[in-house]
This record gives sequence, C-alpha cells and structure tokens, in this order.
Amino acid sequence: MKQTTLFNGRRLNYYSEGPSAEAVPLVLLHGFCEDSGLWAPLKPFLSGIRIVRVDLPGFGSSDVPLVPGMDMYADAVCAVLNELDIARCVLVGHSMGGYAALAFARQYPERLAGLGLFHSHPFADEPERRENRQRGIDLLRAGRKNQYVGQLFPGLFAPDFARAHPDVVDALIRRGRRQSTAGIVAALEGMKERPARLDTLEALTCPVLWVLGECDSIVPPDQALKAALLPAISAVQLLPRIGHMGMYEASEPSARILKEFRQFCIS
Ligand code: MLT
Repeated sequence: MKQTTLFNGRRLNYYSEGPSAEAVPLVLLHGFCEDSGLWAPLKPFLSGIRIVRVDLPGFGSSDVPLVPGMDMYADAVCAVLNELDIARCVLVGHSMGGYAALAFARQYPERLAGLGLFHSHPFADEPERRENRQRGIDLLRAGRKNQYVGQLFPGLFAPDFARAHPDVVDALIRRGRRQSTAGIVAALEGMKERPARLDTLEALTCPVLWVLGECDSIVPPDQALKAALLPAISAVQLLPRIGHMGMYEASEPSARILKEFRQFCIS
C-alpha cells in the first residue's frame, strides 16, 4: 500500500506490503536515478514476507530534499520506520541505496537485524569518479537530463542481457527520465561527498549480506570483496554472468537470497 509521511516538512513516499504483523520486515532501498518500483521484479517471489520500499527523497513520489547526503537518506528511512512503528528491520540497498543503508548502519545500528549490500560497497569515490559525477551535475544543470539518463542505464546490465532485453533497459531509461533533475543532482552530490564506511562495517554486530554480479562494471566483485571480511558475520553471494541489476537479470535467485538472508537474521 502506498503511504506518505512528512520528512523535514517534505513528502516522503513509501510502500508497506505483506503481513503487517511481522515484526522485522525487509526494507528495500533503490539506487541512483531509480525509485521503489525498481524492486517490482522480485515481488512475485517475495510473497508472504513483509516488505517496505522507500522512494528516497528526490525520487519517485518523494519530494526533493532540502540538503543532499547519504545521512539525509538514512534519516528518511528512519522516519519511515518510526511512522510504521518498526523497531528493527533487515535493510537492503541497491548500489546508491547500499551507500544510504551504510549511513543508516552508522547512525542507527540498533535498528538493524541485518544489512544487505546489493551490488554495493563501502568505499568512498575515487577522484575520477567524483569528476564524472561533477560532469553529470553540470550536464543536468544545463538541461540535458534526457541525454544523461539515456547514457546511464545500458552499461548497468551484463552486455548479453542488455542485448536480449532492450525493453527492460528502455523502461528504466523512461522511468529515469521521469525523476526530477533536482533529485538526481542531489543524489550525485551526496554520492560524491560520501565517506568510506569501513569502520561502520567493522563495528556492526548484525549479519551483512553482499550480493555481487560477476559482470558488474559499476561495483566489480573483487572491489567489494576487499571489505567482506570486515563485519563480524558476512554472507557473500556471487551471481554468475550478472551485471549491476540482479533484480532484473536474476529475479528469482535474487529474491531467494534476500528471503533466506532475512530468515537467517531473524532466526
Ligand atoms: C547506482 O546504481 O546507484 C549507482 O550506479 C551507484 C554509483 O554510481 O556509485
């Protein structure tokens, strides 16, 4: 069910689905230039589980934030949990959503039964990536959102998948182009400035899940794996022949991994 709350006086949209009596839901955060609809391909495989999906500020139906930053996204997620009276959850973030989930883990570790990094990692941007983000901000501010978003999505998929499913790539481009320019710029600024979260992972006592794609060019598995030994408990799942978009490229295995991880965290 679509619901809205206020966060810093602005509209924050989220969906709460499945058995509401379940105390520890799976909370799903989308990545950059996307919204909570990103997780739709997993829904048929997650029936029976309580799921909360958040439109991070500036995406989907949520208003653009007053200030950018992963900490701000973390506070927004906390506002949703408070609104739903959820004490603890298993929080899973895709890529940028994982950066937000790590910020949440630093600020609110007591609210986590488990943390899932879905094609994500805890490192800060390298200088080259920061420069790319600034180029993106400049392009967006110059009114060239369609061009920017059009270039973004094809490279997120494993090449074979993108060739075989141009409809999926096109649908994501269309949805990306509907996101507000200010929301996309805020996300780029937030990602550009985010610190590494290695210390957060080291301090975490809840289990941490790493879902990695063998062919992910945005979050190469060998990079993420460098940090997988930091948490007290890590579970690593490598999806063979998959890029950065496991929820589309391997929907059923991705859902199964999340379901089993949640079960592990609550049992
Ligand atoms: C994402 O999918 O959220 C982004 O590609 C993450 C990033 O650019 O670091």
